Amino acid sequence: MRQKILIAKAIFPDVVARLSQQFDIESNQEDRLFSHDELLAKLRDKDGIYATPSTLIDAAVIAANPQLKAICNMAVGYNNIDLDAATHAGIIVTNTPDVLNETTADFGWALLMATARRITESEHWLRAGHWDKWRYDSFLGADLHGATLGIIGMGRIGQAIARRSLGFDMRVLYHNRSRLSADREAHANNAQFVSKEELLRSADHIVLVLPYSTATHHSIGAAELALMKPTATLVNIARGGIVDDAALIGALRDKRIAAAGLDVFENEPRFHPDFLSLSNVVLTPHIASASEATRRAMANCAADNLIAAMAGQRPPNLLNPQVLDGAAKT
Ligand code: DGY
Repeated sequence: MRQKILIAKAIFPDVVARLSQQFDIESNQEDRLFSHDELLAKLRDKDGIYATPSTLIDAAVIAANPQLKAICNMAVGYNNIDLDAATHAGIIVTNTPDVLNETTADFGWALLMATARRITESEHWLRAGHWDKWRYDSFLGADLHGATLGIIGMGRIGQAIARRSLGFDMRVLYHNRSRLSADREAHANNAQFVSKEELLRSADHIVLVLPYSTATHHSIGAAELALMKPTATLVNIARGGIVDDAALIGALRDKRIAAAGLDVFENEPRFHPDFLSLSNVVLTPHIASASEATRRAMANCAADNLIAAMAGQRPPNLLNPQVLDGAAKT
């Protein structure tokens, strides 16, 4: 009998077709957001789930579906999945690391440049028909070249962002759970490991690339924003919840920092409406990894993981090896 898989959100049709060759697929190509109860019920007769960041697979979903063999996320971040609960239930969990590093780093730079140089703000002004003359002080922004870049979360994406700063002749400071090896620091434009406080005080531009967890919830709140330079910009391409959005809105409104570029939000896609009234923030809808090639690579990477897991093999991007090394599900 063929195994049954739920594809919880719309994905590339050719990837659905690929999975359909091996599994009985229930696919949500109309891209409805399932309620918690609906997801729980849809999984009852399934052996595996192909999930995306907006599929919340919490302890209750897992407890109601202990028959699941694998939860395969089409994202590197997996804060939408209760990993401990899945591991405890003997369910394999996978993500899609590496394939998106360079694309996400490119986007971090795009957002940083748009923010520091006020690109979207000035474009909106131009489109609104306000441009009647050249002015010496139109949309004065902050330079990137020669400035100090601070990166919080120096994993593979953070290092790719640091490497790109070489061409801008920037000094790089970073803060991370652990210090990188000397080789890696050298390769990341001689990035210098500092405390979070020193980074917040010294950087001209700060990019957040750390994973979300209860430990990193509101890593940037009112106290941290107060340490930043009033001329500084803050870019978040990591996850909503790492920044206290209400505190950030206050800091942007009072010009306690110059500007922010945000690709992720608390409670997205229902982000805080006050962001819309601020001109010194660039807002994008969680698209840092969204190049055609990279989203396809992520989609196929998640499919590879699912196919391996369902065949009883070790998936390439296994997040909870304990499940296979210890009491594996039979
Ligand atoms: C990821 O992979 O975690 C991204 O945020 C999804 O685009």
